[in-house]
Amino acid sequence: MSNAKKTSSHRKLFTVGPNAPFPFTEAYKSLRTNLEFLSASGNCKTILITSSVPEEGKTNVAINLAITLAGSGKRVVLVDCDMRKSTVSRYMRIPRGHAGLTNVITSRDVSTLSTALVRIKETGITILPVGTIPPNPAELLATPITEKIFGALQNAFDYVIVDTPPVSVVTDAAVLCRVADGVLLVVRPGVTTIQGAQLSKKNLEAVNAHILGVVMNGYNAKKSGRKDGYSYAYSYSYYDNKQQGSDE
Ligand SMILES: Nc1ncnc2c1ncn2[C@@H]1O[C@H](COP(=O)(O)OP(=O)(O)OP(=O)(O)O)[C@@H](O)[C@H]1O
Ligand SMILES: [Mg+2]
Repeated sequence: MSNAKKTSSHRKLFTVGPNAPFPFTEAYKSLRTNLEFLSASGNCKTILITSSVPEEGKTNVAINLAITLAGSGKRVVLVDCDMRKSTVSRYMRIPRGHAGLTNVITSRDVSTLSTALVRIKETGITILPVGTIPPNPAELLATPITEKIFGALQNAFDYVIVDTPPVSVVTDAAVLCRVADGVLLVVRPGVTTIQGAQLSKKNLEAVNAHILGVVMNGYNAKKSGRKDGYSYAYSYSYYDNKQQGSDE
């Protein structure tokens, strides 16, 4: 049985939890362990989730990672920075008109942050929705108050998980790298191309992003014989581009 939550579009959220397949939940725990390991050796609090193109599973990965981190008692906030789609709100059923990041930015007053935060009781995570969709997302994200907002979130939470649009499609993810300690690049078999992943890596490195690693999300459900739609997300590898200097 699937615990996928239907949204108004064709999109679904596959969540970790008691009804999810064991390997699916385990894969996220393994990703959590890798991140905790990185945190122990340096600052790894604000983690940006991005990918090359749409529908590789960024938002699913961001939500499940946030829930898994909260499951080990961490205070986690998930920030929806996909200002074109606000999928986090759709997946988590937060009303469309709810105040969010853009409203806090335009108010120029970080103290308005508390009214925008939404606590999701069942999962223990807090969400900062997008807010009013702006005509100029990249410009808005580039304003200095964005740094102050992230600073306030970093003070109040153990982890700040940031969901973004694809890095090769719009510049928002690259703009946000300045507030992130590291980036997880999501790839998905059948969707991601080698060239697309390489281009994303180059785009991220051009803004001095610290790429923590790659999350391989989903493998063919039919091949694995699953009928409930879940494909497992695996923490595929992590590498430190500063240490390895690879251009793969
Ligand atoms: N591991 C998975 N198993 C099965 N389906 C998945 C998995 N991950 C994502 N999907 C499906 O792929 C679609 C896109 O997922 P999601 O919204 O998370 O992608 P995205 O990369 O955030 O997309 P966008 O770039 O448009 O924001 C959804 O319908 C979702 O259910
Ligand atoms: Mg998304």
